[in-house]
Amino acid sequence: MANKPYIYVTRKLPESVISRLNNFAEVGMWNREETPVPRNILLNEAKKADALLTMLSEKVDTELFEVSTNLKVVANLAVGFDNIDVEEATKRKIVVCNTPDVLTDTTADLAFSLLLMTGRRLVEAVDVVRNGEWKSWSPYFLAGSDIHHKTLGIVGMGSIGEAVAKRALGFDMQVLYHNRNRKPETETKLGVEYASFNKLIEQSDYVLVLTPLTKETKGMFTKDVFKKMKKSAFFINVARGPIAVESDLIWALKEGEIAGAGLDVFDQEPISQDHPLLQLDNVVALPHIGSASVETRTAMMKLCCDNILAVLNNEKPKTPVNK
Ligand code: DGY
Repeated sequence: MANKPYIYVTRKLPESVISRLNNFAEVGMWNREETPVPRNILLNEAKKADALLTMLSEKVDTELFEVSTNLKVVANLAVGFDNIDVEEATKRKIVVCNTPDVLTDTTADLAFSLLLMTGRRLVEAVDVVRNGEWKSWSPYFLAGSDIHHKTLGIVGMGSIGEAVAKRALGFDMQVLYHNRNRKPETETKLGVEYASFNKLIEQSDYVLVLTPLTKETKGMFTKDVFKKMKKSAFFINVARGPIAVESDLIWALKEGEIAGAGLDVFDQEPISQDHPLLQLDNVVALPHIGSASVETRTAMMKLCCDNILAVLNNEKPKTPVNK
C-alpha cells in the first residue's frame, strides 16, 4: 500500500514483538541483534521513515533530522535518552519517547547486585576458585567491606533510586539521597534522608549514581569529588559513563582515594579490553546490562511499539520526553 507509514527498527528484535507494527505500517529492520546499524544505513532509512525505534547506540541528531523529512516519532529502547537531541526534535515537532517504569525494578536489582559484588569482592572470589588459586582458608582472604549498617548515598532519586533504597533498607543500610528537588514524600515513605551533594559524598560508604546524563551532570564526579569521598568508599555507576570524568576516576582508584568502583557504564561502550579501568583489581565492570532481563527488555520493546503506534494514529503516546 503506497501510503502506509514506514517504521525503521535499528536492531533485530523478535518478530513476536514487532509483528503488531506490521499490521499498520511497512517495517524495515536492521538485520543484526548484536551489532548497531551503520550510520550510513541509518541515515538512508531515516530519509523515508515516519517512525524510528532506536537503541542507545544510535546518535539521533540534527544531521539525522535534516534528512528525515517525514519523521514523527523516535522511540528509544532505554529510559535514558542522551543519545537523542530532544531539543532539536521538539523544534521540529518530532515526538521522542523513552521506556521508564517497566525497567525500574530490574535496573534496581542490577544496581544493588553490583554494589554487593563490588563491596564483597565477588568477581575476584569467583576468579580465584576458577583459576585454582584457592589454597587455604585464611582470616583476611578476600575479605571485603560490609554492606549492612553502612551508608548508601544515591545521587539521582527517581523511581529507580527509590527501588534501590527499598533493597538497601532490607539490608539495614542507612540511605542518603541527593536530587535536584527534595522529595519529602519519599523521605516519609521510605525513611531516607536528603543530603547536600557534599554531605552525601563525604558520608557515604557506597555512592550510587542514578542521575540522567545532561549538561548539568556531565563530569559531575571529578578528582575533587573523589578526594572528598571516604578512602574506604565505593563508587557505583549504573547511569552513564560521562557523569564521572573517567581519567579522574582512574586516578582516584589508583591513588587509593576510594576503595573501588562498580561500573555498568563507560565513556566508550563497549570498553576496550586494554582500557586502564579493566587493569585494576578494585573495579567490577559490567557490559551495560542494567535493564537486561528477558521480561524487562520485552516490556521495553512493547512500550516502544505502543508509543510509535499512538503517535502515528494521532494519539497521545504513553511516555514522551519532549518538554
Ligand atoms: C537505560 O534504559 O537507559 C539503560 O541504560 C539501558 O539499559
